[in-house]
Amino acid sequence: MKTIISPSILSADFANLERDVKAVEKAGADWIHIDVMDGHFVPNITIGVPVVKSLKKITHLPLDVHLMIENPQDYVQAFRDAGADIITFHYEAVDDVLKVVDLIKSTGAKAGLSIKPKTKPEEILEFLNELDLVLVMTVEPGFGGQEFMHDCAQKIPLIKQNAKNDLIIQVDGGITNITGHICTSLGANSLVAGNYIYKSDDVAQAIKALKG
Ligand code: DX5
Ligand code: ZN
Repeated sequence: MKTIISPSILSADFANLERDVKAVEKAGADWIHIDVMDGHFVPNITIGVPVVKSLKKITHLPLDVHLMIENPQDYVQAFRDAGADIITFHYEAVDDVLKVVDLIKSTGAKAGLSIKPKTKPEEILEFLNELDLVLVMTVEPGFGGQEFMHDCAQKIPLIKQNAKNDLIIQVDGGITNITGHICTSLGANSLVAGNYIYKSDDVAQAIKALKG
């Protein structure tokens, strides 16, 4: 499977989102990663449903929505209605993982499950067959521009060994051409990158480097 590159618009200029989304689309991005934070699950507040709805009108790329919020089940339908194609929620934020996965799938979106750095991969193996995507966080969720945690990438092989062939294994946090390569070598097939892409002088070159 070709590596799916999903630029995180958290590192874009929020006053120029259309420009910055179109820039990565033109540069060869596969998806657009949208970080939704509620100030409860993580100590930061970002964007929500109205922004997803507006972005849907200006890009053809699938919208990869990463929910870092409590009670994600209460917002799944609204994000789907706004145009989310992939909806990823956190294992640590819910009591009943499969219930939320089923809800996401019932809307027609792809369902993703994410784990924070301190969560062991063994805890989610039982859900892998029901998922379209697993997101391994390689920083504590909440902010862009943090340093990649190498230990977290070591979770990837176990997930890969237990996954069906078409499971998308995504990593997010501190991804560069170097750390991205480490993750794809370990079995990841989707890379989220914020600062590495948006703070580079040549966005197209950065995306090309991530594709390897
Ligand atoms: C962190 C977010 C990431 C973040 C990635 O909580 O989920 O998507 O924006 O940014 P970089 O690539 O700069 O670490
Ligand atoms: Zn993210």
